[in-house]
Amino acid sequence: MLIFFAIQMSFGLLLAIIHLDPTILQDTMNFNVARAFHLNFAVVWIVTGFIGTILLIGPILGQRDVRPVWLVKFLLIALWVIAIWSFITLPLAHKGIAGWVGNIPMLQQGKEFLEGGRITGFLLLIGFSIFAFLTLHMFPKKKKEWNEMHWGLAVGVVGLATVWVFALFSSENLDLQEYFRWYVVHYWVEAVWEILHITIIGFLLYKFFGADEGEVGFAVFWGVSLVILSGLIGNSHHYFWIGTPAFWQFWGSLFSALEPLPLIFCIWHVYLDEKHGLKPLKNRAAFYFIFGSALFEMVGAGILGFTMTLAYVNIWEHGTWITASHGHMALFGAFGLLVIGAAYEAIRQIKGIERFNDKLSKLAFWMLFTGILGIVASFAYGGTNQIYVYRILGLDWWGHHIRPAMSEARVFLALFAFLFTIGTIILIYDLLTLQNRKLSDREISAMNNKLTHPKTIGRWSSGMSRFEFGKWLLALWFMGLTITAGLFAFGMKSVRLGDPVIPNILAFIGYGGLFLCTTLFAIRFLKAFDSRQDMLQLIDQFGDEEIQKIDLSNLNDRPDEELDKLVLNTFNSIEYGQAFILSSNKDLKSQHLMLYDTLGPGFIWETVEDGPEHWEAKIGKVN
Ligand code: HEM
Ligand code: HEM
Ligand SMILES: [Fe+2]
Repeated sequence: MLIFFAIQMSFGLLLAIIHLDPTILQDTMNFNVARAFHLNFAVVWIVTGFIGTILLIGPILGQRDVRPVWLVKFLLIALWVIAIWSFITLPLAHKGIAGWVGNIPMLQQGKEFLEGGRITGFLLLIGFSIFAFLTLHMFPKKKKEWNEMHWGLAVGVVGLATVWVFALFSSENLDLQEYFRWYVVHYWVEAVWEILHITIIGFLLYKFFGADEGEVGFAVFWGVSLVILSGLIGNSHHYFWIGTPAFWQFWGSLFSALEPLPLIFCIWHVYLDEKHGLKPLKNRAAFYFIFGSALFEMVGAGILGFTMTLAYVNIWEHGTWITASHGHMALFGAFGLLVIGAAYEAIRQIKGIERFNDKLSKLAFWMLFTGILGIVASFAYGGTNQIYVYRILGLDWWGHHIRPAMSEARVFLALFAFLFTIGTIILIYDLLTLQNRKLSDREISAMNNKLTHPKTIGRWSSGMSRFEFGKWLLALWFMGLTITAGLFAFGMKSVRLGDPVIPNILAFIGYGGLFLCTTLFAIRFLKAFDSRQDMLQLIDQFGDEEIQKIDLSNLNDRPDEELDKLVLNTFNSIEYGQAFILSSNKDLKSQHLMLYDTLGPGFIWETVEDGPEHWEAKIGKVN
């Protein structure tokens, strides 16, 4: 996966450089061939990541090992064959060699994202079928024992293969051909992959934070259902201006506008479940990437997707860099970051690393985060100019001063591409040498001792309330609507007469605000997460003999209010990152509820003994 990622990103970098100076490599590598490599390898590394992730979590979910192992090896070899095949045949396609046998292009079929010809098409179908078989083979035989996560993965892996069948149809009628192509591309990213995404995130949250299985299952069920309900007809947002019937404009706009709902739902669950953990997480780096994935899925796919999905907005942006800005944040942000997060956990488990020093991992995360945001911003900036100058005024794309309207954006693109490249190099180095950063018990305890007891926690590290979380989401969506309005404004008469001020201002506020809010929100969320984890680490470290004990056994004749006050006063007297033991000869449920009502997620409750004669809980103070 990492090799494919490196290759894919290198082609991205190359594209950015060719954009700066189109004469570079002009006789060696055609721009469109490089672009096709970039797209094909994007699909390949992400699918490889999905396969790896599912083969990692499948045995835990199914309680059976992956069998037979030779099929897994075969799958890996098949992926390499396909990759090498692309390397050889894509340049051939550029020379007009598609390998026609009758009506069927065997080597290359020239469909964006699905370039591989019929031979790789069949190989992939076999590969996906093997993968579906391997996954289902790990699950319990009786369907009754399946929970929502089994079902989510099952629908996902079977869907991966089923949808691919449409890649094998070709038609000389270009519109019909596009229907088939979108059946694959759209139903993959906006149905099957999202289903896998939701299920994998649900599973990881459940494993990492011990979130309630029923609640996660419920979220997975609704997430998957909403994806299917909105995404199936939502496909028609690709049929707007390509010669297909006009009724799609209404249905495509309506249903695809609903597609962001499950994505909002997903990040909401990340927020809720992150607060479930009682023990410190062993792999914070993986959580960084998983959070990034849910955030970018909502911002990149949900919000930036929404900005282009209404037919009368799409008419302006279709085929410009605005699409590329959405494509990068959605594809890399949502799926790329997820499989990288899963890779961190896979390597930790395979190498038997309890905990590792995650400074480098976090650095890689922030570099990739800023890199992709910068790339997306450059595309958005270039795309806005592109719509106006090239599309509305109809000025020459390839004029004497080569494509001047977008030249600044191209420079920004190249700069952020370098940042992204460095982030990728650090990431790959970090993943491959993770074992060197394994922490020994002594280092872990030294790290714990270094943590101070934060008496007061800064605003950015304090726990995030639901209200605050909601405000961030609203701010993000407000920016998204501003961008939509900006794109819509290209239809104004004044703009067509030569005055782009209104769409430009709206784009500036919308995109600027969106990228700023996304960054600030990520910093805020992850600071609160880190500080909560620090506190859990401290609480975990305290031996039971060192902490205060409150016994309610002799006080049970007192009124409830008095007991509540005692518990709350004790809670208030301890510092963040400390805990006390509460015990009683009666059930402590009512105290637990009272604390929850008063403090929300600002405390942890770890049951030590649960009756029938003695009840005991460790209560810790967290942000
Ligand atoms: C994580 C999920 C998603 C991914 C990975 C993704 C990725 C992409 C990519 C790569 C393209 C460019 C295709 C091309 O080359 O023509 C695209 C186009 C598009 N996406 Fe998404 N997308 C996702 C979700 C969404 C959602 C949820 C919406 C709507 C709310 C949406 C709306 C659109 C629209 C309208 C286009 C067509 C733009 C045009 O050609 O004019 N996408 N998407
Ligand atoms: C160094 C990082 C990267 C750079 C500089 C880069 C640059 C580019 C460029 C210049 C294009 C062509 C735009 C055009 O047609 O003019 C492109 C297309 C595309 N790239 Fe990247 N890319 C990078 C990383 C990635 C990653 C990591 C992914 C996904 C995993 C990705 C997915 C795509 C997709 C889906 C398209 C097609 C977009 C569309 O059809 O609108 N790129 N990229
Ligand atoms: Fe789509």
